[in-house]
Amino acid sequence: MAAPIDLLIADAVADPHATFAALRDRGPVVWSDTHRAWIITGYDGVAEAFLDSERLSSDRLTPYWARLTPDRAAVLGTTFDVLRGWMVFHDPPRHALLRNPVRRAFTPRQVQRLAPGIERIAAELLDGIAERGECDLKAEFAFPLPALVIADLMGVEGADRHRFKDWSAKLAAIVFGESDNPRRDARAAEGSAEFVDYFSWLVRHRREHPGEDLVSALLAAQAEEGAGELSELELVGACTLLLFAGHETTTNLLANSALALLGRPDQAALLRSRPETVDTAVEELIRFDGPVKTMVRVAARTHERGGVTLERGQTVYLSVAGANRDPAVYDRADDLRLDRVPGRPGISFGQGLHFCLGAALARLETRIAVPALLGRFPDLALTGDDLSWEPQILTRAVRELPVSVGT
Ligand code: HEM
Repeated sequence: MAAPIDLLIADAVADPHATFAALRDRGPVVWSDTHRAWIITGYDGVAEAFLDSERLSSDRLTPYWARLTPDRAAVLGTTFDVLRGWMVFHDPPRHALLRNPVRRAFTPRQVQRLAPGIERIAAELLDGIAERGECDLKAEFAFPLPALVIADLMGVEGADRHRFKDWSAKLAAIVFGESDNPRRDARAAEGSAEFVDYFSWLVRHRREHPGEDLVSALLAAQAEEGAGELSELELVGACTLLLFAGHETTTNLLANSALALLGRPDQAALLRSRPETVDTAVEELIRFDGPVKTMVRVAARTHERGGVTLERGQTVYLSVAGANRDPAVYDRADDLRLDRVPGRPGISFGQGLHFCLGAALARLETRIAVPALLGRFPDLALTGDDLSWEPQILTRAVRELPVSVGT
């Protein structure tokens, strides 16, 4: 009998790539009794699933809400009000209504104008680290950088910028389901209440004093024909989604990328010596150990997929990490090769209707932050060999990244 599939046992958390490789060998779609869910294991299946919004729904919020006990529902009411404004949890036609204004506002121009700010933020953070000589690179670089960038994007100033980091961490408690954190409901509720207060204020403020920021652009986009009108709460939802989606993922990408390069000095040397290859390198870092391990869908109706029957209402995990290391698509898939030019489109930002709206920003942050880190600290080295990872199904998140930066 095949071993039970548990994505949260210690080995699977520490090395999900070996776990997903074993699952790919079992078949294109496998059932986990532990998670009461299907797992789509390889590149083709995952790509197809991303594009199949008819049979695979993105609305995992409604079933989650329905399962909550009245006590939990009472604590999490505001959190769900906010999350219901997140496009990522909606199917057509509602999805387009929530996505269009953000898509119109979040333009390449908005992203490009952030480049000098990202360079400045990266340099300041690295200056601080240089003074200390040793640090937790996740806490002191990978975590604050995207939070400060997203604050810039949204036109948040001064002390408020630092509050972003805490809110995002609190909301992560519910979205990523911190399985070992008993306080997670309370933390999520706390974070949501603070979000709602702050963003309601910010939206009102930007209505009266529009600027170059994304919130102003979002308000302006609403006025455009066909962009769709968002309620006040949906606007707050859109802001929190951008803050959240733009923070945790990029933090983990930066941390995972640094770790990957620390383990492969030859590849770090390649990037240092050939900075013009940075775009290809970034794609490979996202593929190799990106922040998204799995995405979630719910079977919208009973259907066949990969030789098995998915029943309506069943949970389906799309194994992005498994797709990213699929040997049918990537030659020597377990090797980090920064000059890799894949024959197929990357899958880490999703595909189709829900394709990541922040992909350009995430790439820009990485293409600035990683070379800045390597350039500034030629002797960067890990100081601990006992790394631990967050026990989460959806994200690949190292807890701490202790490094010394040399002299
Ligand atoms: C390395 C960093 C990132 C990764 C790997 C990533 C990955 C993804 C993925 C896989 C999806 C698809 C979700 C689905 O199909 O259900 C997604 C959606 C989304 N991402 Fe990202 N993301 C990243 C960074 C960002 C950033 C920086 C932002 C914005 C500032 C952002 C905003 C969004 C939004 C708004 C959606 C929802 C799109 C929709 O549902 O239509 N992401 N992201």
